Amino acid sequence: MKITLRLIVSLVLVVALSAIAFSFYQVREEKTRLRSDLERRTITLAESIQESVAPLVESDSSEKLGRIVQRFGNRERFMGIAVHDTRGQLLASTADLERQIPGAVPQVVRVLEEGRPEGGFFRVGDQRIYISGYPLVSGEETVGVLTLFHNASYIDVRLKEIWEHNLLRFLVLSLLVVVITLVVVRWSITGPIAQVAGWMRDLRTGKTREAKPAVLPKVDAALDPLISEATRMAKTLAVARAKAEKAARLAARGESLWTSDRLKDHMRAVLGGKKLYLVSNREPYLHEKDGPNVRCIVPAGGLVTALDPVMRACDGLWIAHGSGDADRETADGNDTLRVPPGEPAYSLKRVWLTREEEDGYYYGFSNEGLWPLCHITHTRPVFRLEDWNHYRKVNEKFAEALYPEIAGEEYPLVLVQDYHLALLPALIKEKRPDAKVAIFWHIPWPNPEAYGICPWRQEILQGMLGSDIIGFHIQFHCNNFLETVDRFLESKIDWEQFSVTRGGHATLIKPFPISVSSEELHGEIVSDDHPGKEELLRGIGVKAEFLGVGVDRIDYTKGIPERFRAIERFFEKHPEYLGRFTFVELGAPSRIHIKKYRDLMTEIEEAVDKVNWRFRTKTWMPIVFLKAHHTHEAIRPWYQAADVCMVTSLHDGMNLVAKEFVAARDDEDGVLVLSQFTGASRELKDAVIVNPYDIEEMADAIFLAIGMEPAERSGRMRRMRANISEYNVFRWAGRMITELARLRLAESGAGSESAT
Ligand code: F6P
Repeated sequence: MKITLRLIVSLVLVVALSAIAFSFYQVREEKTRLRSDLERRTITLAESIQESVAPLVESDSSEKLGRIVQRFGNRERFMGIAVHDTRGQLLASTADLERQIPGAVPQVVRVLEEGRPEGGFFRVGDQRIYISGYPLVSGEETVGVLTLFHNASYIDVRLKEIWEHNLLRFLVLSLLVVVITLVVVRWSITGPIAQVAGWMRDLRTGKTREAKPAVLPKVDAALDPLISEATRMAKTLAVARAKAEKAARLAARGESLWTSDRLKDHMRAVLGGKKLYLVSNREPYLHEKDGPNVRCIVPAGGLVTALDPVMRACDGLWIAHGSGDADRETADGNDTLRVPPGEPAYSLKRVWLTREEEDGYYYGFSNEGLWPLCHITHTRPVFRLEDWNHYRKVNEKFAEALYPEIAGEEYPLVLVQDYHLALLPALIKEKRPDAKVAIFWHIPWPNPEAYGICPWRQEILQGMLGSDIIGFHIQFHCNNFLETVDRFLESKIDWEQFSVTRGGHATLIKPFPISVSSEELHGEIVSDDHPGKEELLRGIGVKAEFLGVGVDRIDYTKGIPERFRAIERFFEKHPEYLGRFTFVELGAPSRIHIKKYRDLMTEIEEAVDKVNWRFRTKTWMPIVFLKAHHTHEAIRPWYQAADVCMVTSLHDGMNLVAKEFVAARDDEDGVLVLSQFTGASRELKDAVIVNPYDIEEMADAIFLAIGMEPAERSGRMRRMRANISEYNVFRWAGRMITELARLRLAESGAGSESAT
């Protein structure tokens, strides 16, 4: 209120000063105008009287003189005329003049002395009068003085009127200033501030979770920084509250939220200063030549997204295939380097493969054999003996790379990743029976019939069962695995414990749904400095109201052509969205040495072209395909700006794009359309779940997502974020490592550790 008062006082003062200055100027101008007007009229009158009076003075005709004087003296605002002789004696004057102006008239003397007209304003009583004297000349000689007396009080009256009018104007203006200031202040400052304050109070007291005040009007841009700062603070508060609530909830259940710090502490306790070993085909950082420079790339894919934060927290050794053409020159003599570049947190040891090995093991057996074998996408697996031989050899190569690293360590903990290294667990155990090994299978596990077509089905199972733990994303894949073992291997299966025992060695089969780092959900990473929807679309030359986003490795399991068919169908069913909805596909080319993948790329480009050719306009495109390797930093703004994110995999172990999208939406907005054939759909039940083979259903899902009410959108997003926040990748790693550590402690006879 004080500010408003100060504002009003300042404005009124400014108005007052302007009014005074303006009035002063106006009065001065008017005074000059009225006076010179009076002087001009007086001169004219004097000249006409002079001609008649001068001869009478000379001839001393006092009676005639008296008559003429009376006749001229009878005018408006005219007080009178007097005629004096050259000695200053009054010869004639209008009646009553002497009473009105008693005493001598100075003009008469001055005219006689100077011999020229003389005039001036005088105050007599409460009247202002203008007295002007003129020499009466006959021939060459001055014969007397003519004096005219005008009542000039009307000038004062007029000037007073001006002051009064201006005072009135000033009062009206001041009143207007006060009223307008109060309205403007209320409308654009105190109103919004009160709204922001109310919303922050509701946020503080837990009455709302809205990321912004509900109906904040568009106010002066000057308030924007305050509002955006308040929004950020509120967001941080909301995040802190959610974190505290979650921590309290978990504490009540005897657990606490898994964070990178907690994982770090946990690892310290479990490993007692020893390293964690992680082995995968894909490396988390690869170096590529870029002209004379070397570029560091983080490969696309869920494995790296999930495991890099875990390794950063644990500081262990990650062994992986060095696939970059500048990988050798960036590693040391032991093929090792510290990563991530710039903020080293763990070690990466690279394994070198020949071109033939890479072809046979990676492209061949892993991705033309096991990949289609495990994914139900009706793509026929290809099994070749030479590929299998390379697969075995490369698994041995990885084992050789690991052995010296764990040589001096008792009960080392090793996490093997994915279908490229199915034989590695048994190889490790052969040489180091004390090692505690887990293999995590990042893709689905098929049913026994489907799996049974693999010529080396038993060898693969035996290799995996060398582990102490085999992890899958979901229980369904664990069930399939146990049934597969039951079908193809001699073993003892415990369906209660979900374990397989062969040759005295037991392996636990458990679901560990992988996830993303949830640090950004907890407010550790809060960034508002990202381009918005309009800016992103402008960057690709498109104007649209609604934005859909897809982020994929270009793979036939991802259902990308199906997605584009659904988008085309959506426009057919809802032409009102033509020109208003654009779908941006951020697709990273992958495994392009395999023909199936090259064909898929062509199919996708043709599908995009078909839809665009049919519907595009000069300024708008239905689908924009950004074919490139996109960094996480580049993808994040698209997640944050999207009205809808589409994950339409035909079959997917988990799919971390779905979880990344949810994690990125700190505004609790946006809709996820998610295939029912992803592992993620078991957890993210608030997504719009679709069957990617059902084009009609997917088209309807896009329509539903775009038109969804904001309250429903944020409710769904909030629940999904709560899920991811709790079931994050630190929990995933923590649980798996805890299981391994428990087995190690049991075996070494040091007791058992309670599950976390
Ligand atoms: O989804 C299975 C998977 O192996 C992931 O674990 C991995 O991130 C992704 O495929 C990428 O595959 P690639 O390493 O062949 O590029």
